[in-house]
Amino acid sequence: MQRLFKTQQKDTLSRNAVSIHSRLSAGVVMALIIVCFMSAGCAFFQRNETGTSENASEKEAVLLVAFGVSDPKQTKPYRNLERIVKDRLPDALIRWAYTSDKIRQKLAGQGIPVPSPEQAIKDLRAQGVAHLTVQSLHVIPGHEYEDLIEAVNRHRSDFKYLVVGKPLLSSVPDAERVIEILLKNIPERKPGEALILMGHGTSHAADFTYVAVDAMLRQKDSQAFFGTVEGHPTFDDVLAHCLKAGVKNAVLAPFMVVAGDHAHNDMGGNDPDSWKSRLGAEGVAARPVYRGLAEVDALAGVFVDHLMIARSGQEERH
Ligand code: CO
Repeated sequence: MQRLFKTQQKDTLSRNAVSIHSRLSAGVVMALIIVCFMSAGCAFFQRNETGTSENASEKEAVLLVAFGVSDPKQTKPYRNLERIVKDRLPDALIRWAYTSDKIRQKLAGQGIPVPSPEQAIKDLRAQGVAHLTVQSLHVIPGHEYEDLIEAVNRHRSDFKYLVVGKPLLSSVPDAERVIEILLKNIPERKPGEALILMGHGTSHAADFTYVAVDAMLRQKDSQAFFGTVEGHPTFDDVLAHCLKAGVKNAVLAPFMVVAGDHAHNDMGGNDPDSWKSRLGAEGVAARPVYRGLAEVDALAGVFVDHLMIARSGQEERH
């Protein structure tokens, strides 16, 4: 994340430098500086962070809101997603926020401050942003998403235009699309090998989404199974399906935006409690792969489509 923010800053600086040098000769710069000191509301010095001098009331930003990841080396899926958003909206400011208090605290302790959604919204307002699209990078509309909506609602009146894009799985067509893309994007899976996906799971009613994903996945591919760490279906459900189907070899992959702690420990770790170990103890040799969903362009694209729909106002506001 730190690297991500540093890159943004560097890009901004170099863009500023290029625009200044290419457009203005030294003499013109001097004249401008003099005029600016004379006029209090000089737009030249009110330049926003993208290096443009547009009117503050037209300034647009995108706030990408993820659960967060505590190891900055694991942000590759986030960076991939950001790249796609930048391609689609080259003139918008792009900022990040993490919803997990624990992860933000851990990162702050390492000198990597990442704001909460509410803090990021306040900061963007303070920078003169009037048009804000907040995109949830959560998998399901669960607790984290609801908290995000509440934070956004507290700041409705601060913006001219404020919308929130929905999480990855917000409809049955979303789930169909995600499953189809995912089944085509696990190159490590060899013919005849089963696929076991690990989702997060939740105490929120949106846990039903995962139960549906499991059923939809098995309908598409009789050798593909889905379970969650903290909700339903459970690991025992996955194991029962695998044993019934006579699975001997499987690829084990996270169904999470980022391959973080759960993927590295609960899924593919060497502890006797990990899914890999427990499957192994039952005669299922499982090879873990660590690719966050947003690392696959087409899957990151589902989030970006949600963002663009929200931004266009075609969807009901929350
Ligand atoms: Co967790």
